Amino acid sequence: MFNKRTKIKELLAQEPAGQEVTVMGWVRTFRNNQFMAINDGSTNNNLQVVLELGKFDDDTLKRITTSASVKVKGKAVPSLGKGQKMDLTAETLEILGDSDAEKYPLQPKKHSLEFLREIAHLRFRTNTFGAVFRVRHALAFAIHKFFNDKGFVYMHTPIITASDAEGAGEMFRVSTLPFDNPPRNEDGSINFKEDFFGRSTNLTVSGQLEGELGATAFGEIYTFGPTFRAENSNTARHLAEFWMIEPEVAFNDLEDNADLAEEFIKYLIRYAMEHNREDLDFLAQRLAEEEKQLPQDKRSEMGLIEKLEFVLNNDFERITYTEAIDILLQSPAYKKKKFAYDVKWGIDMQSEHERYLVEKHFKKPVIVTNYPAAIKAFYMRMNDDANPELGHGPTVAAMDILAPGIGEIVGGSQREERLDRLEERMKEMHVPVEELWWYLDTRRFGTVPHSGFGLGFERMVQFVTGMGNIRDVIAFPRTPGSAEF
Ligand code: 4AD
Ligand code: MG
Repeated sequence: MFNKRTKIKELLAQEPAGQEVTVMGWVRTFRNNQFMAINDGSTNNNLQVVLELGKFDDDTLKRITTSASVKVKGKAVPSLGKGQKMDLTAETLEILGDSDAEKYPLQPKKHSLEFLREIAHLRFRTNTFGAVFRVRHALAFAIHKFFNDKGFVYMHTPIITASDAEGAGEMFRVSTLPFDNPPRNEDGSINFKEDFFGRSTNLTVSGQLEGELGATAFGEIYTFGPTFRAENSNTARHLAEFWMIEPEVAFNDLEDNADLAEEFIKYLIRYAMEHNREDLDFLAQRLAEEEKQLPQDKRSEMGLIEKLEFVLNNDFERITYTEAIDILLQSPAYKKKKFAYDVKWGIDMQSEHERYLVEKHFKKPVIVTNYPAAIKAFYMRMNDDANPELGHGPTVAAMDILAPGIGEIVGGSQREERLDRLEERMKEMHVPVEELWWYLDTRRFGTVPHSGFGLGFERMVQFVTGMGNIRDVIAFPRTPGSAEF
């Protein structure tokens, strides 16, 4: 059979004892017409193939260029060279696909991450992106394993929806109406009754509302799918299309919710440490080299592996929003006017504030709870704790988890299960009560306390791989002004 091949990862795990194998992959380097390093994506380690001088004709040797694809049959023997324990001495060699060395954009040298982003279709063939995307895969698998082992039901919530779960109005419209001449109502507005779904629809910003319907039947569900936000944020942490994991659990309060989130994040880190150590070691070294370019005070105190171990071995800090604001007000950064944005009770903390809390003050992940109701979504459970004397409005049972180097990695809450309170709040926030009749039905028929959260998958991959820009942990990033590939 054509595809009876041994993967390089499996081969390198064996003792070289003259066993005959067939290996296929892409050429990384070719030296002295004799030493060919090939990679097949199963591991970052290349296999050194040794071509005996004179055994292969010049035409074939000329075709061994960077990224040409090859099929080699040979014997695995102990290597005489340094840097690898095994060589494959080639008996037969077939070029499967040529690669024009003049035109191939990846050279066997260091390229900047920015340059590689422009050739995202080829960047998987580099060591860095090979490692990142194998880790991303492992984390995706671990997510399903974590929830499956706990008995959660995996729910596929719709991608096209008519609702705005976050109420933030950051949606991509889905429509088949003609742009140039859409049907109009008498008042000039667009008549969405004539649109494909007979109403105005958009890409989902979150599967939560539908997730709550599942949780109030199965008890425990999770979603894991793409979500879309038309927010014009050109940062290293925002994508217009990102993947989110949203567990939703009946009978859980805010503290149970925080416990689940902490256990989940630690499980994912541990899984990657146990299954992807080689790739993480490579990424740790990459990060250390990158940080050498930075001034001393901008470098991280811990290496990547150290950081991950530290997170595994320590409890997340848990504080309320009010305590977080107090810490910021007491901070030297605030007193020396180092923050660009003002600090007072009621603000939506900016990333500089979140970073101060996790990176300077606590130096570990922090779970912040009970945010002002005024800055949070309509579905969060209202606390009865307004304190007009201190100028504090009521808070909601929200929680954000802030991670070093990332900022917000999780957003979640206990949900408002009391129908009257929920309807009141929706009206206040101009959320269409009639359109969400199906959501409110859960509160009409056997309502229960319940909680959930959303983990941004790419931010989690960033945290585990140490990659500084979110565009480098998703294969084909969608950001304002960019949808190539
Ligand atoms: O805080 P968010 O907006 O919460 C929700 O969507 C809730 N419905 C979740 C829930 O309670 N079920 O988003 C959750 C997480 C954020 O903490 C962040 O990690 C990630 O999703 N996220 C983004 N990641 C990349 N690019 C963006 N534009 C993101 N917006 C949010
Ligand atoms: Mg949030």
